Amino acid sequence: MARTPIVAGNWKMHLARGAARELLTTLRANLDGLQGVEVVVCPPSPWLGDAADLLRGSTLRVGAQNVYWESHGAFTGEVSAAMLAGTVDFAIIGHSERRHVFGETDEQTQRNLRAVIDLGMQPMLAVGELRAQREDGSTNDVLRRQLLAAFQDVDRLPEGFIVAYEPVWAIGTGLTATPEIAQATCADVRAILADRFDAATAEACRIQYGGSVNAENAAILAGQPDIDGLLVGGAALQAESFTAICKAAAGAAA
Ligand code: PGA
Repeated sequence: MARTPIVAGNWKMHLARGAARELLTTLRANLDGLQGVEVVVCPPSPWLGDAADLLRGSTLRVGAQNVYWESHGAFTGEVSAAMLAGTVDFAIIGHSERRHVFGETDEQTQRNLRAVIDLGMQPMLAVGELRAQREDGSTNDVLRRQLLAAFQDVDRLPEGFIVAYEPVWAIGTGLTATPEIAQATCADVRAILADRFDAATAEACRIQYGGSVNAENAAILAGQPDIDGLLVGGAALQAESFTAICKAAAGAAA
C-alpha cells in the first residue's frame, strides 16, 4: 500500500517574526504544488497565524510544535489544542525536547495525543531512545513503552497516522542514524504498531525519521522502505536546505 511521505520542519524556538515570514514566503514559492510528498512547517506558536495566512491556498500545511490537552482554563503559559485547531492541521506530540528538557511524562504525552486526535488534527507522535538506551540494547523496550503509553486511550488510529522516530542522540548533534539503523528501527516501530493494533493499521501508518537530517542525507534516509518522510530541525531553518530535503523525499518516494 502506497503511503504518502510527509516532511515536517520543526523550527523550534528560532526566527524572529520578519525572518519567519520571509522563510514562509520563500518556501511557498519553492514548494507549492510539489507532488509525491506532504510538506508541513511548524513555526513557534506566535507565528502560527502568520504561517496560516501566508500559506493559505497552497499545498503547504501548518503544524504546532506542542499542545496542551485541556481546552481552556487557568494554565498559565500553555496553548490548548482546541485553540490551535482552527489554525493548524498538524501537531508534534511528545517531542524529545518536551520529554527531556521540560519533563513531559508518558501520561502527559498520551493526553496531548488524545486531545489532538479528538479535535481531528493530525498528530506527529515523536518517540526515540537516549544514547545510553541505544548502547545498552533497550531501544525496542523504550519505543514500545512510549508508543503503548501514548495509545493507552486510543482504540483505532486515524488514517495516515504519523509516528516520528527520532533517536535523541541524533537530534541537533550532527550524528545522523545510519540509513540501516534508521530503517531497522522504523521497521521495529511498525511491528509494535501491528502488535498494538493490526497489520493493516501498521502498514498504513507513516513513520518519519528525524535527527540531523540535511540536504545530503535526506534522499537515502527517505528512500528506506519503512521510512515515510522526515522530521527536520536545524535544516528546516534555511529555505534552500528544507526545499532540497522535501524534493529529495518526493524523489525517493517516486
Ligand atoms: P535536528 O532536529 O534536525 O536539528 O536534529 C530534529 C528534531 O528535533 O525534530
